[in-house]
Amino acid sequence: MDEGERLIHSFGRRRGRKLRAGRAALLSTMLPALRVALPAGDAPVDPAAFFAHAPRETWLEVGFGGGEHLAWQASRNPAIGLVGCEPYENGVVALLGHLRDGAIGNVRVWNDDARMLLQRLAPGSIARAFVLFPDPWPKARHHKRRLVQAPFLDALAQALAPGAELRVATDHADYLEWILERLPVHPWFDLVERLAARPADWPATRYEEWSVGEGRSPAYLRFSRRAAPRPTEGAEG
Ligand SMILES: C[S@@+](CC[C@H](N)C(=O)[O-])C[C@H]1O[C@@H](n2cnc3c(N)ncnc32)[C@H](O)[C@@H]1O
Repeated sequence: MDEGERLIHSFGRRRGRKLRAGRAALLSTMLPALRVALPAGDAPVDPAAFFAHAPRETWLEVGFGGGEHLAWQASRNPAIGLVGCEPYENGVVALLGHLRDGAIGNVRVWNDDARMLLQRLAPGSIARAFVLFPDPWPKARHHKRRLVQAPFLDALAQALAPGAELRVATDHADYLEWILERLPVHPWFDLVERLAARPADWPATRYEEWSVGEGRSPAYLRFSRRAAPRPTEGAEG
């Protein structure tokens, strides 16, 4: 049994409707060169090494869906290396569609559970992370599938550099409450601001456009990775 099998699935499925031949071909022609391959063993890995030229910083998107946000960030920030995680094959293919003309060269893909990659990333190696519209898993019996859980936050905190920004968005009131009960009190995260509208450097995602079309009002949250853990209540000083 590998790590992926031990994790409770936080995503719905790996495959959707059958890919048209041209789309499926992107997986065999483009993915091998872009896919993150971790060396065997459990030694920490510097994600800058995923790129042909060491980027100024490495940013991480967890659950990039169709990849439009990831591709946008990569095209606007050519000196940054963007690592996108998404186990849903149709989403990976959609991202490859954004990259196929070769204009964007600073994206690498982990087409699996982000938590498996996070546990290998060198401490402090990620300068910014995005968790945009994680699956809300609304039924109480599925809450254990929610991505925002202590082990995920702990792994994310160790991969993020001190002062790194974490952007989170959700359109689900109950999940927002869940997130606000966990992230701002996590020892390594401070809530910086809660926004009702996205800033200019935060483009819409496909899920978000659908959700807003349904009449929902997403919340946009910015967190900062602390340089030292928050002192526990009652601690001296
Ligand atoms: C509701 S969709 C949102 C997708 C995209 N961020 C957007 O806003 O359009 C949530 C996505 O997170 C992905 N996901 C869920 N758990 C994940 C995990 N552990 N690692 C990586 N991606 C994950 C799912 O496969 C799904 O594509």
